[in-house]
Amino acid sequence: MIDVAFTPSVIRPARVAIVIDVLRASSTITQALDAGYERVLCCRTTEEAESLRTPERVIAGERRCVKPPGFDLGNSPARFARRRADEVVLTTTNGCPALLAAAEAADEVLIGCLLNLDAVLSRLHHDDDLTLVCAGTDGAPALEDTYLAGRIAATIGGARTDAARVAESVALAYPSAYEALSASADAGVLRDVGLGPDVEWCARESVLGAVPRLSDLIGGTGVVEDASSVLDAGQVASAGSVLR
Ligand code: MLT
Repeated sequence: MIDVAFTPSVIRPARVAIVIDVLRASSTITQALDAGYERVLCCRTTEEAESLRTPERVIAGERRCVKPPGFDLGNSPARFARRRADEVVLTTTNGCPALLAAAEAADEVLIGCLLNLDAVLSRLHHDDDLTLVCAGTDGAPALEDTYLAGRIAATIGGARTDAARVAESVALAYPSAYEALSASADAGVLRDVGLGPDVEWCARESVLGAVPRLSDLIGGTGVVEDASSVLDAGQVASAGSVLR
């Protein structure tokens, strides 16, 4: 069964969850791992992020889309295209909490965005027990996340919920990813704070091969690593990989 949670508050338990925060957390995490960062440590609060600071880590994230005071980087994916440390510590308003919520509901948690769309799709199977978890924005659905969920749902065969059908209809309504992202309220907020180019960056399709996967939960921190070179989702599950 394929389902879509338009916000993390309505996640249906499933074998696999794909967390989607197109603007911008899932794009940033994918970009960082693709650039060679060994892992991304996702946490809820800026204080927790600062407490994880070491010389081998960059501390990154946003509040109201802007880099918090004292942080090394914000949440613009382009800034992660060059590796500048071993690990990223990331805290974001909606994407990181969505990842941690998905960890409660699925055996395997992957992170998807437009940048790695083909790489994520290649790990999914017809009739997967799959829930597409949209981070949304402050508890409400976000157009860009729903759009990508619809693109993924439309590509995977098998039974689906009405929520998945709704997302597919949204995806069909836009001739391109850029037009869907561009029409969203979140794109408007990014433009308002001078981060409009991030929308174009995040709208590029299947340009990265990284497939971020939650590999561990340490305290309240989600450890995310690139699973693109290891077993595919079905193989990982049957091998009994423990993610939580
Ligand atoms: C979030 O997690 O809320 C977002 O990624 C916000 C953003 O930085 O665009």
